[in-house]
Amino acid sequence: MSERTAGPATRTGGPGEQEALAADARDTTCRRAEFLLPPSPASARHPEVAYFAGNSLGLQPRATRAAVLAELDDWALHAVEGHHRAAHPWLPYHAELREDAATLVGAAPEETVVMNSLTVNLHLMMATFYRPEGERTRILIEDHAFSSDSYAVRSQAVHHGLDPDETVVRLRPRPGEDCLRTEDVVDHLAREGHRVALVLLGGVNYLTGEFLDIPAITAAGRAAGCRVGWDLAHAVGNVPLALHDWDVDFAAWCSYKYLNAGPGAVAGCFVHRRHVTDPDLPRLAGWWSTEQATRFEMRPELVPVPTADAWQISNPPILSMAPVRVSLRMFAETGMARLRERSLALTGYLETLLTEVVRDRPLEIVTPADPARRGAQLSLRVGGGAGSGAADAAGLADRLHRVHGVLADVRRPDVVRLAPVPMYSTFHDCWRAADALAAEVSPS
Ligand SMILES: Cc1ncc(COP(=O)(O)O)c(C=O)c1O
Repeated sequence: MSERTAGPATRTGGPGEQEALAADARDTTCRRAEFLLPPSPASARHPEVAYFAGNSLGLQPRATRAAVLAELDDWALHAVEGHHRAAHPWLPYHAELREDAATLVGAAPEETVVMNSLTVNLHLMMATFYRPEGERTRILIEDHAFSSDSYAVRSQAVHHGLDPDETVVRLRPRPGEDCLRTEDVVDHLAREGHRVALVLLGGVNYLTGEFLDIPAITAAGRAAGCRVGWDLAHAVGNVPLALHDWDVDFAAWCSYKYLNAGPGAVAGCFVHRRHVTDPDLPRLAGWWSTEQATRFEMRPELVPVPTADAWQISNPPILSMAPVRVSLRMFAETGMARLRERSLALTGYLETLLTEVVRDRPLEIVTPADPARRGAQLSLRVGGGAGSGAADAAGLADRLHRVHGVLADVRRPDVVRLAPVPMYSTFHDCWRAADALAAEVSPS
């Protein structure tokens, strides 16, 4: 783990702010001008919000509105014929998104499909890959798993007639620690893996921002005979991914966080090539699972396709696919390598400033100090101890927004999350966040 290095104390209008503005002036990757930023509350000192909640809901690209309106226009103009005659024909619409989605997650195009929502996709994946048998029945998740994943795996256990309390095993960090250690996950799999049917972990943890070692954990799980799937809600568009080479069995992600495709946006799914070419895998199916060439022959049995499309069920919601298409294009244009480079600089800069702020205040950075083990998020525990700062965290986030126009979010009981998003956040935003925290939290 890297040590954290403190930076100069922040001071409005001081040299720290000038440095941040100068860093922004030098930057050639940031695409902030292409996004719509909400105004600050009237009471705030800055007219524009410093937006740190892109790990919850990304900002709206300016291009999105026109893309959605174009689909409405095509519907008005072509009605049913839009399936073939729209500017982006609706019948193969999802295929147009495939290549960019695949590039983003390090997959082959046939391993990727944009469909449904995240938890629905996790269930579809589990319908195929969670096959409890004999003593191999367990599902391994992290104790800090997002609640939806927890509910999903517990309901899968019940669906299979199993006791969820016995079936779902929650991996805890060591006492006194916030993040999982790779060696502990790997050790667990070496010892208990023969009982585990499915490993389902978050690639980047929603609470701590920890970026798990996906290749090492996947290899350990597969060596123990488990299926290994990943929830990439907080990883996609945030950290570089190589799902095919990492031999992941499946993964699912949402598109409304770092992918900026809007509230409840259509999600994505990865299924490794070794599975997409296996026609005998059990899958839940619908008419969009069959090959396109014979779909309208309305046969009673489907013709399996050797791609991740085989897990599609329904025809896609085109009005909701348009924002995903826009967003994926932006990622393809800039490239994850450049975004990651900028993200490391931006998060590193924020960390340097915050290290100085937290030094004598009841705040603690719980995100790993090692840049390789985190993405674009720093989580702060407010109140100096687990569970002790409930009201403070919510009150602090509220004041950051109302007084300073710094929009962060709270995960109860005591964590404030700040995500400097490389696509649109600036060094000056980071400076504002640190300056606001220094002003709002008194030294202890
Ligand atoms: C890690 C994680 N998993 C699952 C979900 C639930 O996603 P959805 O409502 O799109 O199914 C979220 C939502 O924020 C999440 O952060």
